[in-house]
Amino acid sequence: MAALDPTIAEFYRQAPEEHRLEQGAFALEGLRTRELIERHARRPPATVLDVGGAAGAYALWLADAGYTVHLVDPVPRLVAEAERRSAARTRPLASCRVGEAQALDFPDQSADMVLLLGPLYHLTEAVDRARALGEVRRVLKPGGQLFAAAISRWASALDGLARDLYQDPRFAAIVERDLREGQHRNPTERLDYFTTAYFHRPDELRAEVAGAGLILDGLYGVEGPGWLLSDVAARLADPRRRADLLQVARLLESEPSVPASARTYWWSLERQPDSGTRGGVQPGFGVPLGR
Ligand SMILES: C[S@@+](CC[C@H](N)C(=O)[O-])C[C@H]1O[C@@H](n2cnc3c(N)ncnc32)[C@H](O)[C@@H]1O
Repeated sequence: MAALDPTIAEFYRQAPEEHRLEQGAFALEGLRTRELIERHARRPPATVLDVGGAAGAYALWLADAGYTVHLVDPVPRLVAEAERRSAARTRPLASCRVGEAQALDFPDQSADMVLLLGPLYHLTEAVDRARALGEVRRVLKPGGQLFAAAISRWASALDGLARDLYQDPRFAAIVERDLREGQHRNPTERLDYFTTAYFHRPDELRAEVAGAGLILDGLYGVEGPGWLLSDVAARLADPRRRADLLQVARLLESEPSVPASARTYWWSLERQPDSGTRGGVQPGFGVPLGR
């Protein structure tokens, strides 16, 4: 297995990733990610690999919906937590394993869907991202689907405004490099400044997809602009204002200018079919999913 960058490993040893999607703007990311998967994913039965699946937020949800789900993550602590959560479920995960996106321990053409909601921004070199996408292409069945996330090049610049972080000159320096190179590094002790990552421009994503021989089905802004609101948690707790947040994110998700305000981009991709058309993908789960 390719070694996980020690800085990233230390970050996930400390950061409470297993509770991240319950909090503030991250809860909006979780709601919208589920919505986008639900809209695009083929119906169960289907085999899903959640690569970079952490403690299983999406993997367990998909298992509940009837998918056969394998979770892979390089951080043993998170894999152990996914195993613990899975063991308590009526529909457990098919497997949880420590592993890395560039060397997937699964046979060729064994998966209907792959989630890559993490690895592409933590692999900071284009050659490593290409290797990970090559692995996805190998394990996907013809016509299979990849759902992948990337972080916007402008995410930290906007986050700094929303959370009033520019009073810290160390944060300003991080943003300056992010905007210039896309290379996010956090030399401080602050976990909320995130960790080693690559922040994409949308055009780079498109080029990387094409290079991997995958068909880009859609590129979406995940959260819309709502993640920038300081009272996003209160709005999400209120049914009407929560609906407004989700509706605006939906309305703007495909606007070419939206990636500038969204924090996360999300792709829906298909493995190039070996022949014919798009592999008989049926959008929508066809079953209601709890959020
Ligand atoms: C911010 S978390 C996202 C977790 C979850 N997929 C989600 O979207 O909420 C990023 C995850 O990617 C994992 N990760 C980092 N580098 C990776 C790599 N090279 N291969 C696979 N997973 C990786 C981390 O261990 C972490 O669990």
